[in-house]
Amino acid sequence: MEFARGSLTLLLLSSVAPPVASQQAGSLTPEAHPPLWSLDCTARGCWWERGSVVLDANWRWLQKDGKNCYKDGDWDPAVCSDPIQCAKNCAAEGADYAATYGISVNRWQDALTLKFVTQGEYGSNVGSRVYFMDSDETYKIFKLKNREFSLDVDVSKLPCGVNGAVYFVEMDKRGHWNGRSNTAGATYGTGYCDAQCPHDVKFIKGAANSKDWDPKTATGRYGACCAEMDIWEANSQSTAYTPHPCTQPGLTKCDGVTCGDADQRYDGICDKDGCDYNSYRLGDRDYYGPGPGFTVDTSKPFSVVTQFDGTDSGDLAEIKRFYVQGGQVVPNSESSILGRNSGNSVTDSLCAKQKTKFGDLDDFTRKGGLAEMGAALDRGMVLVLSLWDDAAVNMLWLDSAYPTDQPKTTPGVLRGPCPGGKQSTPEYLRSTYPDAQVEFSYIKVGTINSTLPYNRRLGGSYV
Ligand SMILES: *[C@@H]1O[C@H](CO)[C@@H](O)[C@H](O)[C@H]1NC(C)=O
Repeated sequence: MEFARGSLTLLLLSSVAPPVASQQAGSLTPEAHPPLWSLDCTARGCWWERGSVVLDANWRWLQKDGKNCYKDGDWDPAVCSDPIQCAKNCAAEGADYAATYGISVNRWQDALTLKFVTQGEYGSNVGSRVYFMDSDETYKIFKLKNREFSLDVDVSKLPCGVNGAVYFVEMDKRGHWNGRSNTAGATYGTGYCDAQCPHDVKFIKGAANSKDWDPKTATGRYGACCAEMDIWEANSQSTAYTPHPCTQPGLTKCDGVTCGDADQRYDGICDKDGCDYNSYRLGDRDYYGPGPGFTVDTSKPFSVVTQFDGTDSGDLAEIKRFYVQGGQVVPNSESSILGRNSGNSVTDSLCAKQKTKFGDLDDFTRKGGLAEMGAALDRGMVLVLSLWDDAAVNMLWLDSAYPTDQPKTTPGVLRGPCPGGKQSTPEYLRSTYPDAQVEFSYIKVGTINSTLPYNRRLGGSYV
């Protein structure tokens, strides 16, 4: 993904009780993580593991003695003038996942649905972001190098401009719980970071991000940077997978140039552009879309398989992709825009070739390329599932023409068939497609080729 993952966009409850961030554990509403089972696989087979998901802390009501710590885009100076005191004062409350946030699991507890617009008791919620847990206090840490990750997706109800995303970020296993200024921890979804170094994260490492807070943009002085591996950014029209390495391990609380903001985009510690593999952008416009005319028919569910090739001890060499639909293994589209035999997977050479062809600055190589991404996969990353719209650039970088000031005929500008313009604005999308939703199911991780027999389970049959 190339642009800020929704500071304003992952917005939230609008009126009475604005969503807020967290550091102490709340006591007014109990927090019950929706259970979500996943499969761990080896060549000998797959085993179910009980997991769960937790809503990010930024969405939650943050209160002290029943009073908002954060309201109408700003902090209450009475309790939040000091970042550490603010964190100690304010408690994140439990979430009513289905009624308030439109987050639910099926009766088998192996499928998660995220709804776009949910009208709740306190106003309307737009989108959500949840993390996968292996206990009620810890995020599951995935180590994906020389492994594969797969899941089933249903994107049939995701229009242009809306993004159902599955990705990994190098968050702390306990969300920087420290027993003092952060007693909420992973239990309440703290500790988010990504390669865009978002400034809207309300608490970073146990301190409120209240310094220089701008209520208009709801962003603070500091950003939360960490490596990010986008497995799946998609709607029914377009899809991309994208490694975003950073030059520092774990979460870096950035300040100034290290954040890589605005015209310092390439001076920060993370590769914000990444090296995206977008089938449409790379030349195959009939590969992915709704209906039987497409190789992957997005009007029906399918499995997405991503393989991180490389040895356990060596560098990450290649990120492969294939799909499984209707009982058939579907190889990834070819990067025909780069010339014949340019491959159908992310490698350092494909990335360099793509940046040259599209006239993009190659920050991916400068930030260490696949080797640096592999280092983050080795240290371990947290699984994020989200649904969002994009107030910054209307998701044009995923499914339409971007940048908008260049002719659509310039190689790399067209990323999908969406018209863009007014029809991709959050305002239009929220009122026109409030019932948009995405379903993620059957999350699997294991050695290379081990999840294949278990992909796209439909009616009990396996591929
Ligand atoms: C995985 O399966 C593919 C296709 O059958 C095969 O080419 C490849 O060698 C396999 N990889 C491993 C590590 O077993």
